[in-house]
Amino acid sequence: MIQAIAPSSSTAKTEVFPSSLQVLIDRIQARVQLTPETIGECILEARVSARDLMPWADFDHPIEDSYGRQLVYSSHCFKIMVMSWRDRDYSAIHDHGATEWGAVQCFGRGEHYEYRLENSILRTEGKSDFQPGEVKLVDRYLIHQMGNLSGEYFLSLHVYGCNTPEGTITGNARLFDLWEESIQRADGGAFFGLPEAEINDRAYGLRGDGETTLRHHRQMRDRLLQILALRSDAALSLKLTGLERAIAVLSANERSDR
Ligand SMILES: [Fe+2]
Repeated sequence: MIQAIAPSSSTAKTEVFPSSLQVLIDRIQARVQLTPETIGECILEARVSARDLMPWADFDHPIEDSYGRQLVYSSHCFKIMVMSWRDRDYSAIHDHGATEWGAVQCFGRGEHYEYRLENSILRTEGKSDFQPGEVKLVDRYLIHQMGNLSGEYFLSLHVYGCNTPEGTITGNARLFDLWEESIQRADGGAFFGLPEAEINDRAYGLRGDGETTLRHHRQMRDRLLQILALRSDAALSLKLTGLERAIAVLSANERSDR
């Protein structure tokens, strides 16, 4: 462990970081060219381990949160976060607000889907799961989601930045809710079924292709089942019933298309 050398405008949970994280911060600050590729290089050069991130682990996150998220470091132009993934944790489909460059290193076998939005229709671009330790790049256009169906718990390391920040870097990110058929704007985690108070704004009219909508509904259903296993909630039970019906129809359509 070494003392962190952080700019005065920075905020951080702790002023002392594991040496690998301090190397990461220093390397990003020293870079003239900040791109997804250079951030990916910085992460690999820093050789961060999952053990280094344990002070920010949040595996006991509330069941309503789709995964655990903790801020490690924040300066005026980039921030570092640690996400915690229990088995069956899955993010909602999202982008990253004002982020222009970033990267994610996943320390487990994380599932990863990328999407594209065309004429208000969300389509699956592809599935490219993480190998443990793998780094994937984040740019301003990325719409994606990641999750954990590995049966084990793991952490991931996230760097997000932009050159001309106005407000928070990942603030007002878009969440793609195919059940509500809306694009929501929110400042916090990419969670399924965000409470109204955490949604800044929304625009209706989103649609998804059959494959994307079916996967979205199954993932949302799984989060609801996890919540309802711990507490009763009439509104969520009603939503679950609707999701089950929609999943049955979409599954039948998928079978008839084969
Ligand atoms: Fe993301």
